[in-house]
Amino acid sequence: MSRVLLGISGGIAAYKACELVRLLVRAGHEVRVVATPHALEFVSPLALQALSGHPLRSELFSLSEEDRISHIELADWAEVFAVAPATANLLAKLANGLADDLLTTVALATQAPLVVAPAMNVNMFDHPATQENLERLAKRGARLVGPGTGELACGWTGAGRLVDLEAIVGAIERAGSSDDLRGEVVLLSAGPTAEPIDPVRVLTNRSSGRMGFALAEAAARRGAEVVLVAGPVAQPTPAGVERVDVETAREMQDAVLGSLERATIAIFSAAVADYSVERPTASKLKRESSESLTLRLVRNPDILGQVIERRRGQTVVGFAAETEDLLANARAKLERKGCDLIVANDVSRSDIGFDVSENEVAIVGPAPEQVVEVPRRSKREVAERILDRVLEVRRG
Ligand SMILES: Cc1cc2nc3c(=O)[nH]c(=O)nc-3n(C[C@H](O)[C@H](O)[C@H](O)COP(=O)(O)O)c2cc1C
Repeated sequence: MSRVLLGISGGIAAYKACELVRLLVRAGHEVRVVATPHALEFVSPLALQALSGHPLRSELFSLSEEDRISHIELADWAEVFAVAPATANLLAKLANGLADDLLTTVALATQAPLVVAPAMNVNMFDHPATQENLERLAKRGARLVGPGTGELACGWTGAGRLVDLEAIVGAIERAGSSDDLRGEVVLLSAGPTAEPIDPVRVLTNRSSGRMGFALAEAAARRGAEVVLVAGPVAQPTPAGVERVDVETAREMQDAVLGSLERATIAIFSAAVADYSVERPTASKLKRESSESLTLRLVRNPDILGQVIERRRGQTVVGFAAETEDLLANARAKLERKGCDLIVANDVSRSDIGFDVSENEVAIVGPAPEQVVEVPRRSKREVAERILDRVLEVRRG
């Protein structure tokens, strides 16, 4: 999660900036918007203000804002400064260090990484002046994203389209992420397990894997090598993550123990079945074979317990899905298992936890005062807080 200052300049693609603000906010970022006066010919300041939840800034000489020299406050506030769309004019100003409006003044004053998404007519883009400006910006460390190629609003076809908004969000997130997990190898488990009853039926649970996948994505973004052992879920593999797909608890155990030695951090968010069917049948159980059916279940291996037995210096984090006495049960599990942290969540609530996009957790350490409550947030933000806490524990 970053503080993103989004600059919008006066190209036709400025109308897409509203959707970009929405995507960034939805991804958990705090967004403030600075628009050039020309940008406001194309997009409504009210819409940008409402979507970002902060006043839209456009004027440099504002009587209401500049009593605090707020353009410098804004520049200092930003963790990432992104300009989308960036006009040919704006690229020229940025490349030459001009500062004749609020956006370009903030651009000179900020120390945040700069992400630039150009959008213009193909001939403006191909013009040697624009190409030289882009080259200068790239040499100075600006991260250029796009433009895309295709049919342009002006009727021409070629390079100049604002790239997909998802690509801009990705570039902003890469620019804003710290490298604080570089050198760490994070082993994660995620999702449910599926224990066979017969060749077509399984015993499983409602875990969607979202929490574990959010952790994998955040850890990779923060520079870690990530091995993600995933039960059967419909989640795309995050960029840069090594994924091992498994079905049963035993397969999950083998995959986890197989990667444990190289891991420095192990986080187990999977909802592993406690029991599996003792003798799954080789052929499909027939409905007519009897009036009732009894399945004999046997206990599955305790993966976390085995990890603790074999660990050599890894920081180990378990998850506790509870329906009552959240903190007491989490602390009891932490003591019983001997892990460093337990992330506890209340799965009796339908708005958080299993199979939804938000979560609210308590990150419980060994001492009673070591409880970090993370109020209801996107799983992505919760993932960042869990990793922050893991790093604190590793650094003592
Ligand atoms: C309808 C219209 C669409 C425009 N679209 C673009 C564009 O997509 N890209 C661009 O670089 N300039 C475009 N321009 C030109 C810019 O608006 C112009 O260069 C302006 O000075 C940019 O100001 P700014 O960079 O301070 O926002 C367009 C102009 C008009 C009238």
